[in-house]
Amino acid sequence: MLKLLKTLALTVCFAVISNSSAWAGGVSESPLGAATDPEFLQKGKHLFLDYCAHCHGNHGDGDGFNAEFLDKDPAELSNPEFLAKRSDEQLFRVISEGGAKVKKSYLMPVFGHTLSEEEIWSLIAFIRQLGPTGGAVKAPEGVKTERPAGVVLSRSAMDSFSKWFAGEGQKKEQVTSGELLIMNKKSCLGCHQLNEEGGRIGPNLNRSSFNYTPEWIYAWISNPQAFHPGTKMPNLGLEPQEARAISAFLSSFEPEADDEEEEAEVGIPEDWKQYLSATGDASRGEKIFNNAEGTANCAKCHLVKGEGGSVGPELSIVGTSRTREFLLESVLAPNEVITAGYKTIMILTKDRKFITGIKINEDESGFDIVDKEGKNRHIPREKVKKFKTQKISTMPGNFKDLLEVQEVADLLAYLGTLTLPAITASSR
Ligand code: HEC
Ligand code: HEC
Ligand code: HEC
Repeated sequence: MLKLLKTLALTVCFAVISNSSAWAGGVSESPLGAATDPEFLQKGKHLFLDYCAHCHGNHGDGDGFNAEFLDKDPAELSNPEFLAKRSDEQLFRVISEGGAKVKKSYLMPVFGHTLSEEEIWSLIAFIRQLGPTGGAVKAPEGVKTERPAGVVLSRSAMDSFSKWFAGEGQKKEQVTSGELLIMNKKSCLGCHQLNEEGGRIGPNLNRSSFNYTPEWIYAWISNPQAFHPGTKMPNLGLEPQEARAISAFLSSFEPEADDEEEEAEVGIPEDWKQYLSATGDASRGEKIFNNAEGTANCAKCHLVKGEGGSVGPELSIVGTSRTREFLLESVLAPNEVITAGYKTIMILTKDRKFITGIKINEDESGFDIVDKEGKNRHIPREKVKKFKTQKISTMPGNFKDLLEVQEVADLLAYLGTLTLPAITASSR
């Protein structure tokens, strides 16, 4: 009976809304008593957990794990007073255009270049029902259901960037303007640490100049979804000159260690220089990488162009995105930087067993992890006594002892060939 009523209410709601204006800001009021379509709500919930919960918390209470690192508290979206003070159109505007555009904190990112208008409305529907008085929401007629495409950087755009970077990009005024964008205007610090400030959702940017090539920084921040469709980093809709200035800034500074406890300097230790000066052979490196009987057996854990395991990150374009120095460090000392999304979690079960693996998902029911062998496991919450994220990588830490200098040089040469031609003109 209740279900029938809901269906009826929805039908009425459809009829009333269909005359609203075609653009995204259209009126969205629903008649009293109408319920939000459960599927629409579910869609909003998934998006919220993917893109918002790390700051706003799973239930919109403003208590996501990242909130404590922010200078400004994320809004408490579940607060009925907060909800009462804002129209759906106001919510749409801040989610779509970001905090800075509506005189709120610049730490609230822009999502209108990442999500479709309809998806943003589904987020509003979800947010409205977080507070007990929240009403029903439906996307206005005619809103776009396609996600925005984002810029596609052509070969010539990349060539022009490289030329710019070699000249203009080294100048102080570019570096300063990039710094200003990051520190005060764009939402980078909402998710990334720089010096002692900022969030922990993405990698620490102190190391940008050591880890990433300038071309990659430019290409990635111009359109992250083009390279990693599921990334939690939104497309911030940067103007080309903004993306250039930010790349100049991030490529300009001397890298610092990840946190204070680490006394180790970032950089290449003296005794590693021999790995970089040795001439590697890419085809030998490829064999070492793929040899299932060998000591390295990198392919057991890494996907390259559709082949290999998926315990670790895909390496298909690391020759484009990572510097040689960072690749060397990743192989010899994997604990220095743990790639975003690959933190190891250690679980102690109630029957006193330790289980370690990479956390893929965590929800009310428990943890989904991938263990060293690449096996997916679900650990139900009622079996878990304690858990802890660890600062060590699931990648073996002893390749420095297991592999000859020449073998590592060969591996580096091979990784250097794994490029994206649209961004890297020739392999390194
Ligand atoms: C990096 C952290 C971060 C992420 C991710 C984030 N927000 Fe926010 N959000 C904030 C902060 C900080 C504020 C507070 C802004 C202020 O009050 O100045 C805020 C404010 C808001 C507001 C209230 C604006 C107002 O009118 O006061 C809404 C609505 C909102 N966020 C929705 C979302 C949604 C939806 C998502 C996911 C698509 C999201 N946020 C993702 C940090 C974040
Ligand atoms: C809402 C969170 C969020 C915001 C805002 C954000 N990032 Fe990110 N960023 C991430 C995450 C998460 C990653 C991890 C990479 C992935 O998902 O594949 C990332 C990755 C990166 C990387 C490394 C890419 C790689 O190859 O690993 C760089 C560089 C970067 N971001 C720079 C920036 C800059 C500059 C800004 C501001 C203009 C910014 N980010 C804003 C979340 C964010
Ligand atoms: C048992 C699984 C495993 C094996 C074997 C393994 N890796 Fe990894 N690798 C990982 C994991 C997990 C990560 C992510 C965590 C981290 O950053 O250490 C990683 C990270 C990396 C990264 C950094 C990627 C990035 O973008 O940040 C590189 C490069 C890499 N591995 C190369 C190799 C090479 C080369 C070999 C063979 C000599 C190898 N790996 C063997 C699991 C493995």
